[in-house]
Formats: sequence, C-alpha cells, structure tokens
Amino acid sequence: MKKLNIGMIGCGFMGRTHSNAFSQVNHFFDVPYQPVLKTICGIDAPLAKDFAANWGYESYETDWRKVVENPDIDLIDIVSPNNTHAEIAIAAARAGKMVTCEKPLSRNAAETAGMVEAVETAGVRNMAWYIYRRVPAVMLAKQLIDEGRLGRIFHYRAKFLQDWTISAALPQGGDGLWRLDAAVAGSGVTGDLLAHCIDTAMWLNGGITEVSAATETFVKSRKHNLTGKVEPVTIDDASLFLARFGNGSLGTFEATRYARGHKALYTLEINGENASIIWDLHDLHRLQFFDHKDEGRLRGWKSIHITDSDHPYMKHWWVPGLQIGYEHTFIHQAADFLSGTATGCYAVPTFREGQRTDYVTDAVLESARNRSWVKVGESQESK
Ligand SMILES: NC(=O)c1ccc[n+]([C@@H]2O[C@H](COP(=O)([O-])OP(=O)(O)OC[C@H]3O[C@@H](n4cnc5c(N)ncnc54)[C@H](O)[C@@H]3O)[C@@H](O)[C@H]2O)c1
Repeated sequence: MKKLNIGMIGCGFMGRTHSNAFSQVNHFFDVPYQPVLKTICGIDAPLAKDFAANWGYESYETDWRKVVENPDIDLIDIVSPNNTHAEIAIAAARAGKMVTCEKPLSRNAAETAGMVEAVETAGVRNMAWYIYRRVPAVMLAKQLIDEGRLGRIFHYRAKFLQDWTISAALPQGGDGLWRLDAAVAGSGVTGDLLAHCIDTAMWLNGGITEVSAATETFVKSRKHNLTGKVEPVTIDDASLFLARFGNGSLGTFEATRYARGHKALYTLEINGENASIIWDLHDLHRLQFFDHKDEGRLRGWKSIHITDSDHPYMKHWWVPGLQIGYEHTFIHQAADFLSGTATGCYAVPTFREGQRTDYVTDAVLESARNRSWVKVGESQESK
C-alpha cells in the first residue's frame, strides 16, 4: 500500500477530527493509501508538541511554510482559521502538494478564486471538507432525490442554531474566539454555519440563483483579546435568507448563535410533489421520509434508522442496528478522497465546487447590507 504523508496545518477542533479520520480510515475502508501523520502545525509550540504526541505525529512545527516546503509531505490538510486558508493552499499547490481545506474555503469568493486557480494550474488534487454530505442519512436523501422519488421539489428549509455567544461578557478575537472577528473569519454565522447549509442544499437541490437576506449583530461591541480594548463587533450574529433555486423551488435558511438552548441544531427539510424528507443533526442516524405513494390507510412519516448494510457507508461499520456518529463523517470523506486519488476521480466538493457556496454567502451579506434581492455570482462582496 502506498504511503501518503500528511502535513496538517492547525491542531484545534478540526485538527482532532481530521487526525482521527486519517488514523482510522484504513481500519474500516479498503483504500489504496496508508495515510501517515507526518507533521502537525500550530502557532503554540507546547500545544502542537502535545498534539503530536497524543495523535502519533512524527514531528510538529509552528511555521506552516516549513511543512509546505518539506519534500516528504504529499498532502497539506488545512484546518486553521479562515484567513490563513488561501495563502497556505496556494503555496501548497505551487509546491505540487495535494491540498484539502476546511470550510469555508476562505473569507469570500474572490479570495477563494486564488485557491481554485492555484490548484487547477498545478493540477493537484483538492477537496473542501463539507462533511455533512457524508452523513449516511444525508447521502440517502441525495439518492432518493436523484432517483426522482420526491418528484418536483417545491421547498427547501435549513436551520443551524447555536447559543454560545449570547453573553456580552464573551470577548472577541484571538485563539478560540477568532470566529467573532470578521477580519479572520470573513463573516459570522453566514460563513460559519450557513455555509454548511448552503453546500448541502445545492448538492441536494441544485444551484441557488438569488437571495434576499437579513443579518443582525446583537452585541455591538466586545473586548478584543488581541488589543485588550473594547471594539465594535464586525460579524453577523444571526443571518436569515430567502432563496430561489435554479429548479424553481424556494428556500428558507436561518443561522444564529443566539438560539438559547440549541448547541448545534442543523436541520433540513425538503418538500417535493410526491415525498418529503427531514433530517436533524441531533438525530443524525435517522432520516424522516414521507411518501405520498404509500397506501392511503398506512401513509405517514417513516423514521428510517440508517444502520443497515445497504445504507450509504454503513457496510463498513458495525452490524445492523448499531449507529455511528459525527466523527465518522470525516472518516467517510477521507476514504472518498483516498479512493478518488487512486482511481483518478476527484472527491467532491473540489475547491471549484466549494467556491459556489462562497458566492452564495457573499450574496447573502450583500443583500443584508443593501436590503435587496441579490443575484448569486454578481455579488459586490466578492469584487
Ligand atoms: N467541517 C466542519 O464541520 C467544521 C467544524 C469546525 C470548524 N471548521 C473549520 O475548520 C477550521 C478550523 O476551525 P477549528 O474549530 O478547528 O479552530 P480552532 O480554533 O479550534 O483551531 C485552529 C488551529 O489553527 C492553528 N493556527 C492558527 N493560525 C495558524 C497559522 N497561521 N499557522 C498554523 N496554524 C495556525 C491554531 O494553533 C489552532 O490549533 C475553520 O476554517 C473552521 O471554519 C469546520
């Protein structure tokens, strides 16, 4: 089996999920590569050193350039804050490395364009980690839609609700809180949470053509961890938008970090002429399915427990009836990437496909600012 040496940039939350995925993938999937955790990179040397020891990395670094320049590294996996993605990805592609990158690919579509150009010019493998596509229940939803079981689709509804920034005493910026600083994150919940909803939506239901949005920043100023001063908050705390899809259906999307009681409630619902689907991250191993073609007396919502070997990805796991969780979606994505690399197929979404989500988030922010409908792809935000 060929070895694939990984240099991972970032050793926080996603550093752990990705390190776990690359460590586990060969135990469960027959992929032609053996990922090797070669070098981990983080800005805090003691943390990076501990991370390397805990996950079995051969070495650690604090300067990502050294990882990119290392001729032994085959794949640069970017799991650092959003403002670092483009520079690292472009350098890695120019060095001839495969590049995978967490979402959002960068802070806006214009910044992502440089990443797309770099990987395509270098001809290197690339992929964005929009992992909700790899939840078996969501993959089953995709199969049902592609088989035409829903018929014409009328409605798409998605929500991603959290509550962790309600306290006005929470500072912004710096390690762990960079998501509250638009200079680093690009935006607030639009790029962080809605990006997931938009990627899944366009994968399931096709492109979004036009949006009308409203955003709000509920806490207007917070102490900035890097300057020590109270500064204006630059992110959107909540973001809602209406969408028109290319297939004629209507969408409603909502994300907030101010929904008291909700920690990570990602839900989606699709209503078609013949059938409807509901999925909920808190119950991620179930798919709710209503089929109007069922016999009238027995017609109703089915709650399908996605644990059988004929469900997507599930034959690789335990026995029917035993469910899997969040971390497995990363293992699925790693498996798809490694299999694709061997067969010549690119695992999706590529950077080019991931950029489509950036165009929509740009349009959402522009629409909220201008209080008007905005056509996707013509966003001023990305110029
Ligand atoms: N796919 C998902 O579901 C999902 C979930 C969470 C986060 N993310 C994305 O993953 C990325 C990382 O998020 P996180 O939650 O892991 O953040 P985090 O704050 O937990 O970790 C960030 C890491 O990046 C490192 N870092 C920061 N600047 C660096 C630099 N210049 N060079 C090298 N390392 C640097 C830090 O040392 C830290 O280890 C973000 O783009 C985020 O949007 C995706």
